[in-house]
Amino acid sequence: MDYKSIIADKINPYVDMEIEDIKSIIEIPPRADMGDFAFPCFQLAKVMRKAPNAIAAELSEKIDKEGFERVENLGPYLNFFLDKASFLQEVVESIKTQGDRYGSCNIGEGRNVTIDFSSPNIAKPFHVGHLVSTAIGNSLYRMFNFAGYNSVGINHLGDWGTQFGKLISAYKRWVDEEQLEKEPIKELLRIYVKFHDEAEKNPSLEDEGRMYFKKLEEGDEEATALWKRFTELSLKEFQKVYDMLGVKFDSYAGESFYNDKMDSVVEELKEKNLLVESNGAMVVSLDEYNMPPCIILKSDGATIYATRDLAAAKYRKSTYDFAKNIYVVGKDQSLHFKQLFKTLELMGYQWAEDCRHVAFGLVKFADRKLSTRKGEVIFLVDLLKESISKTMEIINEKNPQLENKEEVAEKVGVGAMIFTYLKNSRERDIVFDWKEMLSFDGETGPYVQYTYARAKSILRRHTSKNSNCEYKKLTSAEEFELAKTLSGLQNSVVQALDKAEPSVVTRYVIDVAKAFNKFYNSHSVLNVEDEGLKEARIQLTEATCQVIKNALYLIGLETVDQM
Ligand code: ARG
Repeated sequence: MDYKSIIADKINPYVDMEIEDIKSIIEIPPRADMGDFAFPCFQLAKVMRKAPNAIAAELSEKIDKEGFERVENLGPYLNFFLDKASFLQEVVESIKTQGDRYGSCNIGEGRNVTIDFSSPNIAKPFHVGHLVSTAIGNSLYRMFNFAGYNSVGINHLGDWGTQFGKLISAYKRWVDEEQLEKEPIKELLRIYVKFHDEAEKNPSLEDEGRMYFKKLEEGDEEATALWKRFTELSLKEFQKVYDMLGVKFDSYAGESFYNDKMDSVVEELKEKNLLVESNGAMVVSLDEYNMPPCIILKSDGATIYATRDLAAAKYRKSTYDFAKNIYVVGKDQSLHFKQLFKTLELMGYQWAEDCRHVAFGLVKFADRKLSTRKGEVIFLVDLLKESISKTMEIINEKNPQLENKEEVAEKVGVGAMIFTYLKNSRERDIVFDWKEMLSFDGETGPYVQYTYARAKSILRRHTSKNSNCEYKKLTSAEEFELAKTLSGLQNSVVQALDKAEPSVVTRYVIDVAKAFNKFYNSHSVLNVEDEGLKEARIQLTEATCQVIKNALYLIGLETVDQM
């Protein structure tokens, strides 16, 4: 039930303001004694040439109060108090009927959103930053779909560039085939690092690397076969992480995909007089916009990351006709994306304004043992596995009898990590701390999943099922607060999408868990004489489970019925 719409409909006949505009300024007051919704009259003051307080007073007399307990003016605000019983019933019943779709909407109907996320580099470790990108991107992917858009998930693999020439050269010199099969990324990384060390002593290696990349660009059979092998081996490793997280992509078109699509971009830049020479390189000058130039061709004529991103953006527009084109990439690449979007704008593409860099901060480790010393890389799969085994220890301590412990430990352990990454505003740095992350009673994934499991266990223990449900007996503040919180899912999703900020939904689901625990700690659900009241509390509990499940799904977590 959309109360803001109901209120806007009631206000509309008396004011000169569109329904949507009214809706957009309705607020949720900070205190319960100020009502459940408030309409501020400041904006109307100008058009109506009256003091906001007077407008609020006038509206409170005229307005139709049906469906509300009361409507009062307080200073410049018109405050709406919900009729608690009918509100509770509305909320709980609509959660029940809409089920997994509760909280969804169709604001994005018929529009595509391309989301570039995860995008790790071939032959390099999938690092923690890529995991954050994966978590944010996957969450946005699900939320956009939930809001009626059609999400297109793109894994823009780093699978092209001069480093592949170096890798081929390194492979031919130093590879250990057995290791390559066993731990491909570790081995590829080892020979790549070795290449750099050796090249310091013997600079001619660099030429060899360049030569192999040239071969690769020209489609040389051997070079191509090696490059393919590196890609396949790496993808197999990355897939392990995606499987653990339940993440899927619609496209794996990485940088190499644009190899044959860059000439035309370079031509176009020339035609549009945007390309200038600078120290032998061809660049788009961005002096006017206080940015360093966007390099398109290096002095040896090779294309780079930015060239491929230009080709990719154009390709995405023509293939998916996106309404929004999103890049979930660390904030250390902010300048790159500013240059990219500016260049697209200079090329005359109006849709440059639909492109958005969704940036995020760094992951820091509170636990010293995990810090990345030089040369030591953290393998993400290992980190996830560690989280799962630590969760297993906690389960063994708390609930050793639990069935399918492995499955639970995986969902909770992996979930805890994702939850940590999505809890705070994305641009803030994340401090990674096992203890905090896995705690069952902080603001954590396990806490929310545990709340869900507790609620589920109440429902399992409820056996006398056919009594009348009497919502009007739910009169406590805790019950009303819980229902109000439950009703806020859609609003959080819309806000989260607006800011491209999954943390809005993460914080929301923490609020739901807190509101439920507050309710449950002050009222018994099963131990109640009055059957009508008991049934109503059961329904409220069931609705809570549904909302937690939906919200967790939107941030990429699964629920468990027992833990
Ligand atoms: N592969 C890059 C990296 O690991 C991220 C790519 C992001 N996407 C893009 N279209 N530039 O830093």
